[in-house]
Amino acid sequence: MEDLEHIKYAKNVLSQRDFEELQEYIGDDVDYWPSYNFKPKDVPPRNKIEKAIVKLIGQDNHVEYWIRNPRGQEPTLWHVDANELFMKKYISENDSPEEPQFARQFPLNTHILYISVDPKMEGGELLILPNNTYVEGRPINDTNYQPMDSSRMLIVKPKENHLVFFNKPIYHATNEYKNIDPLRRDFRVSLMFSSWDYIPKPYDEWHHWNNPWVGIPAEQLKWPKGA
Ligand SMILES: [Fe+2]
Repeated sequence: MEDLEHIKYAKNVLSQRDFEELQEYIGDDVDYWPSYNFKPKDVPPRNKIEKAIVKLIGQDNHVEYWIRNPRGQEPTLWHVDANELFMKKYISENDSPEEPQFARQFPLNTHILYISVDPKMEGGELLILPNNTYVEGRPINDTNYQPMDSSRMLIVKPKENHLVFFNKPIYHATNEYKNIDPLRRDFRVSLMFSSWDYIPKPYDEWHHWNNPWVGIPAEQLKWPKGA
């Protein structure tokens, strides 16, 4: 992938040893981990994920991080990375999927590090619209967003230990991941992290959260024991 000013792509960002250790630590059952996590800059790394993040980007900023494994069925729709936890917590508390306008707070950047990619994966590419920044007034998880046919699109095939970086709220999505072998447990595990120059709500209260929604109350979680 070519480099643009606000989008970078880097191969083998961690040493082989550090990467394998991280890969083993994260595993492929991402439900094991809290959905939304935060490390303030003045808190030293408390687990292997935070250690890897600090190795990659240092500790100049606060960091939000999350792990995902879109297995099989649903593609990730067009969205911009924003204060998604705040938005979902609000949705849960108000019992309505209407996104609050005032929760549209954006991090300084987004990093996507591919942890484990099934060598037989079909689909699952990351789609980035480099010139399409957040449209004021629209939701951040934008089910109706349709890029114009002329919008430039970058297509990234996930590769282990490769990292994608962008530092503008640009629209991105992932392609459907086709399960080519129904008997296997396919995986496409990625670690995302974003720098923040302040501590957004509700991370000022707690650092590890579930994935709240209508009917699912926001929950403060403990980092898994022994991890
Ligand atoms: Fe995203």
